Amino acid sequence: MKNIKKAPFVQEMCRATANMYRLGWDERNGGNISYMLDEKEVGKYLNLNKVIRVIPTGFDASKLIGKIFIVTGTGKYFKNVETDPETNLGIVRIAKDGTSAELLWGYKDGGKFTSEFPAHMMSHIARLEVDSEHRVVMHSHPTYTIAMNTICSTDEKEFTHKLWQSNTECIVVFPDGVGVLPCMVCGTNEIGEATAEKMKTFRLVVWTNHGIYGTGRTMDEAFGLIETVEKTAQIYMLAHGKVVNVIPDEILKGLADLWGLTPLEGVLEV
Ligand code: 13P
Ligand code: ZN
Repeated sequence: MKNIKKAPFVQEMCRATANMYRLGWDERNGGNISYMLDEKEVGKYLNLNKVIRVIPTGFDASKLIGKIFIVTGTGKYFKNVETDPETNLGIVRIAKDGTSAELLWGYKDGGKFTSEFPAHMMSHIARLEVDSEHRVVMHSHPTYTIAMNTICSTDEKEFTHKLWQSNTECIVVFPDGVGVLPCMVCGTNEIGEATAEKMKTFRLVVWTNHGIYGTGRTMDEAFGLIETVEKTAQIYMLAHGKVVNVIPDEILKGLADLWGLTPLEGVLEV
């Protein structure tokens, strides 16, 4: 068996959490990541027949039975993942009953997966239905995105437009726009279901006054989406009240045409 701590997927989780912490996006235990893994790849590092313990999920994840995920632990600090991945991360397989998860590695101190496990698993189900190569769900608390929530409407088309208008990269990186949920109680099946509903059409979903979800085929894609929103939210907040120029809708359409992209309908007025 190969050393699991050297596995590329463990290293990717360590690098992502460390970067997110250093960017100031994930204070204390803020944020969580889940990454769907290839069974054959995990089998090089772990005996897949050895289940450490079974953890109930509290919701139906039947569509993911047998799928294996590496997931950040609840209450764990992103800043500590790199130095102690076996305590702060876990590898779980959705059990045959669809309502529990088999722990294959990690959560060494008796811990369990993130309290946002419903939002993560339900989002994986929704994204896999539109993209079979989807793999990563990433949740974070980036400062300027949350600041933007305090002064902007929760109308997702308006929110998307404000981002597109502030930085030419935005319409190119997320022509599909940003879904927005109102402020809700987190860590529940309800917010999980609401997030997954948005994930049917969006790769990015903002949780008003809380943070953001990004998804993708790779860690880089999920990270890059959040990074682009957050940088633009920073520009928006720095410029707020002093705006002279925003990117006109004709230019936004020109950018979309240049890259052969279809922008979210109902945002541009051209
Ligand atoms: P966890 O520590 O359970 O992952 O929760 C952090 C968080 O961001 C809640 O939304
Ligand atoms: Zn959160």
